Amino acid sequence: MKALEIKPDIYWVGVIDWAIRDFHGYVTPNGTSYNNYLVLDDQITLFDTVKHDFSEIAVDNIKNLVDPSKIKNIVINHIENDHVSSIGDIMHLTPDATIYITNKGKKGLDRFFDTSQWNIRIVKTGDILNIGKRNLLFLETPMLHWPDSMMTYIKEDKLLISQDAFGQHYASSARFDDEFVSSYSVTELEDAIKDYYANILMPFGTLIKNKIAEVQKLGLEIDMIAPDHGIIWRHDPSKIINMYLDMADGKTDLRVVIIYDTMWHSTEQMTVPLTQGIKDEGVDVKVVKLRANPISFAVKEFWKARGCLIGSPTLNNSMFPTLAEFLVYLRGLKPKNRIAGAFGSYGWGGGAVRDIYEEFKKMGIETVGQGVQVLYKPSAEDQKRCYDFGREFANKVKAYHSKFE
Ligand code: FEO
Repeated sequence: MKALEIKPDIYWVGVIDWAIRDFHGYVTPNGTSYNNYLVLDDQITLFDTVKHDFSEIAVDNIKNLVDPSKIKNIVINHIENDHVSSIGDIMHLTPDATIYITNKGKKGLDRFFDTSQWNIRIVKTGDILNIGKRNLLFLETPMLHWPDSMMTYIKEDKLLISQDAFGQHYASSARFDDEFVSSYSVTELEDAIKDYYANILMPFGTLIKNKIAEVQKLGLEIDMIAPDHGIIWRHDPSKIINMYLDMADGKTDLRVVIIYDTMWHSTEQMTVPLTQGIKDEGVDVKVVKLRANPISFAVKEFWKARGCLIGSPTLNNSMFPTLAEFLVYLRGLKPKNRIAGAFGSYGWGGGAVRDIYEEFKKMGIETVGQGVQVLYKPSAEDQKRCYDFGREFANKVKAYHSKFE
């Protein structure tokens, strides 16, 4: 992709990674992009770099605009490898440039690179760097989503360069929100936003709300948000801000997701009457088999639903390993504002359903009843119990959901 002007003299010089499907274990079915930006002002300024595999392409994008040795400032908004791993290549081309970074960012950068010969200035919230016609305002955003994270606001352009925040893992030839016009493409984009939020930002809802409030209090006018992944919000930046506020407030659809795995199909058979019971109470339901789907997909579906039922056969007196893996991942994401239950088959002692309820209690997630367990294979009576539990669960989900309306 060539450099693309996003504002007068401000260019996207990033790359599109159409092929990536495993982003440090997080499955990215739509690929991603590594966005970085070059401002051609009196002092030429680069914002972030790209994943090292694509360094050459990003450098070529810069060379299409300017000799890289003319870059005077490099703002590192975030030091995760997908954004900083090309910094060595850039510094090789412009060794006298000055890096602007947070204190925690500097500490991390020192671990990844030999920075002893680099000019580095530590910045904090409120610091302003004049680069000619523009003033860059730095805004620290610690734990959104790393300790080093910050954003940069360019007052004269009303542009917020937001690093990971407001991004999506979404490879696309389109670079702007207004290029998503068909209902299909809008739905796909919104799904990518929720996927990203669920898997990366779910633990930080309160921080997100506070940071957005802080930015609003500063009275910054924003007419474009340029994140480090995915599309740039130039038509309606309020859309992504409002989506983040809604997600941080726990808003989601009145919906149930059943996430399960199975050994000899008994637990799987239980999903049929459960689904019917939920549906008969007027609640939409989606069924996700773990071994058929990546764990990050299951987390996205968990996030998109108000209620979650986990189905697991008992193996060695506890839950099936794929469910254990899912729940450990989920616990780390500190889910809130959801309601859950469990079901599963067993052969002799049982234990999976009990342990799943325990896991949800540790997470602080409200649960419904004691779940449903069946011996070996669901009988007609067991299927009726599953159906009834599905209806009971759906009704509890509806009552719980009404608190958010
Ligand atoms: Fe896109 Fe936290 O790196």
